[in-house]
Amino acid sequence: MARVFSGVQPSGTLHLGNYLGAFRQWVAMQEEFDCFYCVVDLHSLTVEQDPAELRRKTIETAAGFLAVGVDPGRSTLFVQSHVHEHAELAWLMESTIAFGELSRMTQFKEKSAGKASVRASLFTYPALMAADILLYDTDRVPVGDDQRQHIELTRDAAIRFNGRYGETFVVPEAVLPAHAARVMDLQQPRNKMSKSESSPQGTIDLVDPPEAISQKVRRAVTDTDGSLRYDPSAKPGLSNLIELLASVSGRSIEEITSSYSQYGPLKADLADALVAALAPVRERYGQLMADPAELSALLEQGAEKAAAVAAKTLARAKDAVGLLPRA
Ligand code: AMP
Ligand code: TRP
Repeated sequence: MARVFSGVQPSGTLHLGNYLGAFRQWVAMQEEFDCFYCVVDLHSLTVEQDPAELRRKTIETAAGFLAVGVDPGRSTLFVQSHVHEHAELAWLMESTIAFGELSRMTQFKEKSAGKASVRASLFTYPALMAADILLYDTDRVPVGDDQRQHIELTRDAAIRFNGRYGETFVVPEAVLPAHAARVMDLQQPRNKMSKSESSPQGTIDLVDPPEAISQKVRRAVTDTDGSLRYDPSAKPGLSNLIELLASVSGRSIEEITSSYSQYGPLKADLADALVAALAPVRERYGQLMADPAELSALLEQGAEKAAAVAAKTLARAKDAVGLLPRA
């Protein structure tokens, strides 16, 4: 069975963009693939974190994975720092990837721009990400568009390592979502819905109660020209709502634009569809957060399964570069 790996940082509240842009693919992929899903807490240390909050968000993010339908019976769900092989293989990746390659990463340029001080790990972050992926002999990596450059670098690193030291790593491929690759903010529809930059009214959290979801959709910014058509550059707000309805309902954009003549009914149907999709997620999330012992047991099982695979790959890689095995 082909292998899938993906990860999300525990750095905020999970929102509709994460759900439609990432988690839904993760859940669907369980049907066909052997999936490893990881809360990448080491990646979060690339910027300042409050220790207590980091711990809390790590648990919340894991609960979020399970609540959207990641099935621990079929997939391996774990916390990155529980499997020390990630940090160790990252060193070998830093010794494979060139300084110049890391300097060209657009995410690093964006996140470091204008900062007086930037952590070294923010710069080497793609090497850790390559280690995450390569440790599991991953074939496919479902990610949003923003991560595509990091996957390219991972491929280059795997090919280079294999060429220099012999076949060691599987060369992975990125898988981008077909729909809703970019969910926009409901109040500022030219910006991506995001945990760090959006206003609460512009973001739908996975655990928002039904009234809040309906209200945010009702108040979503559109435009005043009144013509109902899909045109992301001229009508970003309305087009985002159409795209969202297509994504949650499975209806096509053409069918949606031809069945409504006013914004109000479209918003009402979108609100209903989102409430229906998110209600079970919210309920399951509540149950999981109420039982920390069960959650922690699931993460322990996941770490054990992940470590068994990771240890073998790391041993292979260390041996290949000439690190002396312990007697
Ligand atoms: P982040 O929350 O930025 O760490 O991203 C976690 C995952 O959710 C990544 O695969 C992102 O590509 C995806 N994601 C985050 N925000 C959005 C959005 N507004 N639209 C679509 N996908 C998103
Ligand atoms: N860098 C990714 C992000 O910020 C998270 C991530 C870390 C990841 N390791 C990964 C995603 C491995 C896919 C595969 O969203």
